[in-house]
Amino acid sequence: MVSTSRLPYPLTLAGDGLILREWRAEDLDDLVALLDEPDIARWTPMPTPFDREAGLAYLSRAQQGRVSGRRIQLAITEDGERPIGEVLLFGVDAGLKEAELGYLVGAQHRRRGVASGSLSLLSMYARGTLKLGRLLLRIDPANVASTAVARRCGYRLTGEPPILQVGPHGPSSLDTWELPGDRAATRLERLKNVAARRYGRRT
Ligand SMILES: CC(C)(COP(=O)(O)OP(=O)(O)OC[C@H]1O[C@@H](n2cnc3c(N)ncnc32)[C@H](O)[C@@H]1OP(=O)(O)O)[C@@H](O)C(=O)NCCC(=O)NCCS
Repeated sequence: MVSTSRLPYPLTLAGDGLILREWRAEDLDDLVALLDEPDIARWTPMPTPFDREAGLAYLSRAQQGRVSGRRIQLAITEDGERPIGEVLLFGVDAGLKEAELGYLVGAQHRRRGVASGSLSLLSMYARGTLKLGRLLLRIDPANVASTAVARRCGYRLTGEPPILQVGPHGPSSLDTWELPGDRAATRLERLKNVAARRYGRRT
């Protein structure tokens, strides 16, 4: 079992026609192009507009979080080169063996299974290698795309009270989704195969 008090770095995860890799300084222009986008402004805590200054600060924080082993923050790519999105694991509680995951995909790359493929890969790694038993997503129920990703990856809505927050779009609440423990690996494996077939057809 890998120690979850210091997460592995550097890390590359591959599968489903996707390669998840560390962010690089030369990704700045692609990062800004991906993140300066209305849905990302609406549903994530990213600064808006997301300009080069925001991008530089973001890459610097990502690097700090990775080197210190506090989080996993990977660029989603198809070939190890240009990023098309991001998937994260953060808020690790080593005692409770739980962590939260998150994801975003650039507007031009959506509806091709990229988010669900990436979330499945990172969830399998978190369960299988990091041995984190409780994997969580926190999603605004109005974010239909994100709830669809959660469902497709086998996450289920918990009965936990909504987490209230006030953002630039006014007050909102986040539901907590959890990847069930039982048969999770089997289900993820099946989903991975489905995603691989679908992804393969579309490229
Ligand atoms: C949410 C997001 C990551 C989805 O990325 P994606 O790569 O398009 O998602 P996928 O292609 O893997 O889609 C998975 C499922 O969601 C569905 N879906 C995706 N976008 C959808 C939309 N706008 N409306 C309804 N369903 C949607 C897909 O049809 C698919 O469903 P299926 O299993 O029935 O085929 C992307 O829309 C995004 O980056 N949004 C802004 C950032 C964000 O909301 N992040 C999550 C914060 S909690």
